[in-house]
This record gives sequence, structure tokens and C-alpha cells, in this order.
Amino acid sequence: MASPYNDLVLEHFKNPRNTGRIDDPDGKATEGSPACGDMVSLYLKVDPETKVINDIKFESYGCASNIATGSIITELAKGKTIDEAKNITWQEASEALGGLPKIKAHCSVLAVEVLRSAIQNYEEKHGLVTEKVVTTEEIVRKRLKKVMNPIKGLDMVATHLVKEIDITGGVVRIVIDLPATHQFANAIKEDAVEKIESLWDIDQVIVEFTD
Ligand code: FES
Repeated sequence: MASPYNDLVLEHFKNPRNTGRIDDPDGKATEGSPACGDMVSLYLKVDPETKVINDIKFESYGCASNIATGSIITELAKGKTIDEAKNITWQEASEALGGLPKIKAHCSVLAVEVLRSAIQNYEEKHGLVTEKVVTTEEIVRKRLKKVMNPIKGLDMVATHLVKEIDITGGVVRIVIDLPATHQFANAIKEDAVEKIESLWDIDQVIVEFTD
């Protein structure tokens, strides 16, 4: 059967550039696609003076197109300033690969999203957020929508894992509807803390389980 992918996509799939993780990254993010449940993580090293992305790596937990678009997004972003990299669109990523099958457009959307989230994480961790919106339950919930529930392959909000959210004086308390001994409890907790703790007005994130 003929491959739905062109040669360039297949080449990036077979020999993806910039794979792996960066120890002690300046910014990082993991995003999942609501369209398919696939995931991708991205790590950044940014020059503190010039704000140029001088190292970038990704890990894919998804389809061939997820791997190829992760690969191309790292190539497009490397050497750009964070402001330039923020403006890379999924259409550019797809074009740089010579086009993707229509049904796979969301894979390039996911690659762009994870890049933007990693840059946002960098900006939040380095006090570069200019729009200082006070964290609300809605903002926390929105971030938790980016935390995957590996039991169901969907986010933890959609799968009703978030039982309670409380924000008091810079401390966010989240109650997750799972036993603390569940095999995925720690992974979900770490991911949730990571998504919330970088918010500019949050000092501490406490995650509790239902038993
Ligand atoms: Fe899910 Fe490609 S099918 S990212």
C-alpha cells in the first residue's frame, strides 16, 4: 500500500532531529492532542541575554507524523529568539515538511502548541510574563486540561479526576479523585504541579488524593 506521507516526512520520521531530553532545561512542556491522545514533550535552552533558543529537544509519544512534526519544529525554532519562535505556525511546520495528509494536520498543531507552551514555561520561570493576570480556579482548571490521565488517554479534567481546587494566598490545593497508591498517581501529581507552579503569583502547589 502506498504511504500517505511524502519522502521528507518519512525521512524525518526515520531520522528525527533533536530527539531526547535536556537535563535542567530553561523551559519545558508536554502537550497532548485531544484529537488522538498522542503526546509530545519539548525542552529548551535559551540564551539569557539574546533570548535565542540555542538548544531544543523533543520526545514523542505518538504517530509517525507526531515524530516528523516534532523533528521539524525543533529545526525551525533552533537559532530563533523566543519571540520569533512563538510566531511559527502549524502551516509553516507542515509546509517545511512538504505537506501532511489532511487527517494529520492536528499533529503539526500539537508540535506548535508544545513549542509555545515550553516558551511560556520559560517566560513564567524567568519573570518575563508581562500580562500578570491573577490566578483563578478557571485558570488552574485550564492548565489541568493539559495533564493527561494515562488510564483513559484523555486529560484529567475531561476524565473527572479533579475533585477540588482551592486557591488561598499563593497556595493552590488540588484534590485528585484517585487513591495515592494508584500506579499513575505520582506521574499525574508531578505533571499537575509542573503546570501550575510556574504561574507568577503561585508559591506552592499541594496535591492530595482521595485516600
Ligand atoms: Fe496524534 Fe498524530 S495522530 S499526533
